[in-house]
Amino acid sequence: MNAQEKKEKAALAALRWVSADTVLGVGTGSTVNCFIDALAARGPRIAAAVASSEATAARLRAASIPLIELNETDELALYVDGADEATRRRHLIKGGGAALTREKIVAEASREFVCIIDDSKLVERLGRFPLPVEVIPMARAMVARRLTALGGRPVWRSQVVTDNGNHILDVHDLTISEPQALESAINQIPGVVSVGLFCLRPADVLLVAKDSGVEEI
Ligand code: 5RP
Repeated sequence: MNAQEKKEKAALAALRWVSADTVLGVGTGSTVNCFIDALAARGPRIAAAVASSEATAARLRAASIPLIELNETDELALYVDGADEATRRRHLIKGGGAALTREKIVAEASREFVCIIDDSKLVERLGRFPLPVEVIPMARAMVARRLTALGGRPVWRSQVVTDNGNHILDVHDLTISEPQALESAINQIPGVVSVGLFCLRPADVLLVAKDSGVEEI
């Protein structure tokens, strides 16, 4: 089974968590695109969706799924999103698609977070995938120095401006032995908007698509 087929399998498995007439938070990325397609074709009819990026909003609109703003709704029942890396503790690295800040906001606003990945993303320890950090543009060089002091090698994703008008630093070579502590430490640097560690608020359910089926963690 190839990676695309696994993404589709994980996406389909997530439909089990979706209830009719609820407001759903929707993440960003190619796995989430499979989820949107599955939801439109085979899922229950939801009341509305809150998108975590402009790209997802466009995809939802194209699938005729009604959209609302986060400020227009109460707590969301469910958030479904992919990840770049995940551990069995359901700690995640996200932000490969530069949507980490809105993803974190929508995850925080949701009662349950179901994360869908293929098994190539399941790791023993986070950090093989460079850690994305969204920064206010004027703070980029200063934040990069702080991240270097933490042991990382930040690289500016210079071709990308986020939906919030900010920049992304991808931090290579970090040893992430205490992910929650590192998430807090990076959050404290002035100029950091958010860090792509999702460990203080991890996923509640991780659906890992493998050749043999979908493992629920
Ligand atoms: C976007 C993300 C995505 O969830 C992550 O990059 C995974 O994407 P894909 O499903 O395309 O592999 O965090 O900011």
